[in-house]
Amino acid sequence: MESSPLEGSKARGELRRATPADAAFVEGLSELVFRPLGGYASILGGWFAHPAVNTLIFTFNERSVGFVMWAIFSTDDLGFEGPEADIVALALEEESRGQGLGGFLLDAAVVQLEQGCRAVSPRVRRVGLSVALDNHTAQLLYTSRGFKRRPKDDSRYPSGHRSLRFTRPLGDA
Ligand SMILES: CC(C)(COP(=O)(O)OP(=O)(O)OC[C@H]1O[C@@H](n2cnc3c(N)ncnc32)[C@H](O)[C@@H]1OP(=O)(O)O)[C@@H](O)C(=O)NCCC(=O)NCCS
Repeated sequence: MESSPLEGSKARGELRRATPADAAFVEGLSELVFRPLGGYASILGGWFAHPAVNTLIFTFNERSVGFVMWAIFSTDDLGFEGPEADIVALALEEESRGQGLGGFLLDAAVVQLEQGCRAVSPRVRRVGLSVALDNHTAQLLYTSRGFKRRPKDDSRYPSGHRSLRFTRPLGDA
């Protein structure tokens, strides 16, 4: 079990690997927060079940409040230049935001990605993610963690909303 930003306080926060039983939570929260992006929420349900995708769940007093999904794709499936690891999604329920949990989940996913890449995919030198053009909160979080825009890989969500691509190097790349 990994440490959490709430360690040492009376509150009990915990980060753990998702199990198939978490599918409903992940799909429900995705639908809530990503609905404006079109079919992206159901796409995330599919990613949750994909063997290359890892999901971490944050629980607070034994109740799930957020998740982060990451993946190391073995080929250049996404059409980007060079192999790349991906933060597939990050979400917290509204009441749990603004306390450092988003940053904590992102940092934990990057640590696991770095370990995974060292072990099985040393050619993967960077991690990328996509974020909606108008999602300034998430963009601030990502830039505070060293992610930088890569405009040539911008895309669109199923809804047509623009998605911006951010990347950062992994390890000492
Ligand atoms: C994006 C999200 C995960 C951020 O989680 P969070 O717990 O609120 O963020 P944190 O409290 O960890 O903040 C981390 C950093 O983000 C930035 N940030 C977060 N909220 C901010 C706000 N309201 N105003 C300004 N900066 C903010 C800060 O740079 C902060 O850095 P700090 O730790 O040095 O203060 C959360 O808002 C969320 O779930 N949103 C809905 C889903 C979503 O948009 N996911 C991302 C899709 S790509």
